[in-house]
Amino acid sequence: MILVAGGIKGGSGKTTTAVNIAILRASQGKDVLLVDADDQETSADFTALRTEEHPDAPGYTCVKLTGPAVRTEVLRLAERFDDVVIDTGGRDTSSQRAALAIADVLLIPFVPRSFDLWSLEKAAGLVDEMRTVNPDLRAHCFLNRSDPRGTDNAEAAEILRETDTVTFLDTPLGSRKAFSNAAAQGLAVTELKPRDPKAVDELTALYRAVFDTYLISD
Ligand SMILES: Nc1ncnc2c1ncn2[C@@H]1O[C@H](COP(=O)(O)OP(=O)(O)O)[C@@H](O)[C@H]1O
Ligand SMILES: [Mg+2]
Repeated sequence: MILVAGGIKGGSGKTTTAVNIAILRASQGKDVLLVDADDQETSADFTALRTEEHPDAPGYTCVKLTGPAVRTEVLRLAERFDDVVIDTGGRDTSSQRAALAIADVLLIPFVPRSFDLWSLEKAAGLVDEMRTVNPDLRAHCFLNRSDPRGTDNAEAAEILRETDTVTFLDTPLGSRKAFSNAAAQGLAVTELKPRDPKAVDELTALYRAVFDTYLISD
């Protein structure tokens, strides 16, 4: 399965999603390729830190690719891996388009704030366009950094449900220090100590929604 963490908003949680899902997948014994297709190279930096600090933790292969090479090289490499996770930058770049041309699934995190939600229409437009070259592309959105209280989540969810092009997954990741603390240590939130059970449950639910829905799990 080729999975892309994308969308056209910076800071929405693409890298957080990509590295956590890649690690969960790797810890299930899968041979995972993580492609850093963002010029900021956060996934690659995260991986370097992880390899340095936690050499015995479940590993994956990480490569940096940009532009059309994201399509050509991933097509070439995909046969050698069980799964490929591609982390993209928060813009409509040639790298993100190249990734969407070959992806099975696109996951778009949305922070429940108006500026972020406004980017939904543009992201849906991009998906529509990419489906002309990749008709089987499945696209999902979910809430990231959702608020523990208040009505913002429900209101945001309502907006995200409105678009048929991108299917809403009701598996939010809350705004939790565990996600940023884990990332700062080169860990998935499932590996962080002390454990934040809510964060672990949320990530596991998102992971299951992605893999179990398509029955591509074990
Ligand atoms: N659910 C969350 N809870 C708390 N912090 C988060 C969460 N998701 C992301 N972050 C933090 O927000 C920042 C942006 O997230 P990141 O995954 O790098 O976004 P993107 O890759 O879309 O730019 C990072 O500092 C990250 O640790
Ligand atoms: Mg990023």
